[in-house]
Amino acid sequence: MQVPTDEHGLIPEGLDAALTANARLLYAQPNFQNPTGRRLPLERRHALAALARNAAFPVIENDPYGALDYAGAPLPTLLSIAPDHIVHLGSVSKVLAPGLRVGYIIAPEELHFKLVQAKQQATDLHTPSLTQRIVYEVVKDGFLDGHVPTIRALYRDQCEAMLDALQRHMPAGVEWNRPEGGMFVWVKLPKHIDSMKLFERSIEQNVAFVPGGPFFANEASHNTMRLSFVTVPPATIDEGVAKLGTLIRASV
Ligand SMILES: Cc1ncc(COP(=O)(O)O)c(C=O)c1O
Repeated sequence: MQVPTDEHGLIPEGLDAALTANARLLYAQPNFQNPTGRRLPLERRHALAALARNAAFPVIENDPYGALDYAGAPLPTLLSIAPDHIVHLGSVSKVLAPGLRVGYIIAPEELHFKLVQAKQQATDLHTPSLTQRIVYEVVKDGFLDGHVPTIRALYRDQCEAMLDALQRHMPAGVEWNRPEGGMFVWVKLPKHIDSMKLFERSIEQNVAFVPGGPFFANEASHNTMRLSFVTVPPATIDEGVAKLGTLIRASV
């Protein structure tokens, strides 16, 4: 089931009895959510932490993007607010390299055995020691302290470039958000444009994005798409957004 959201992310008041009565878990990404780039405001974090303290189900905080906070002013994680009641997921994929396949879980002790069992039965017996040791060697002397600000600044500049390009090239009726961190801009197209069809045309021009429809758990909005600004420089971002703008104009 999908929890109600707005431009600030998950709405805690929307977690009414109808949604939570038979819930098995609550999954949230408070920082720069994939796909929307939204960041959950402080008061909603406290509301979710309060819910986690009383809930009959685990509250999962997935936080792979938390370090990519452009202003360097992070909001407290749910874990830091309610340490005994949150299952917190982290990863080195967004700050070191996704190919390492190294992440971690911080969870209440009574869940540890179940989590190990779930990993062993559902994925693999264990994450390779080699990649774990590589991560350890890279981070143990503080490499991330210097590296994270570098990629933060790079992504912030590329995010700005994408927002400028959207402003220049998108026709009226297209809306997008201004992310405070992370890797994505969430774009809403005029209602009649199906981003899956747009994708088929844009990929022919070497412009890729992720159509928004598959991100919805219930009723999908097919006029949405996720744009990533992290892998190409500003000039290429501008060129790609210009091509997208032309395709969208042709669909309006
Ligand atoms: C929502 C979300 N969770 C987790 C991850 C990181 O996953 P992993 O550590 O398996 O690379 C990503 C990255 O793609 C993501 O978007």
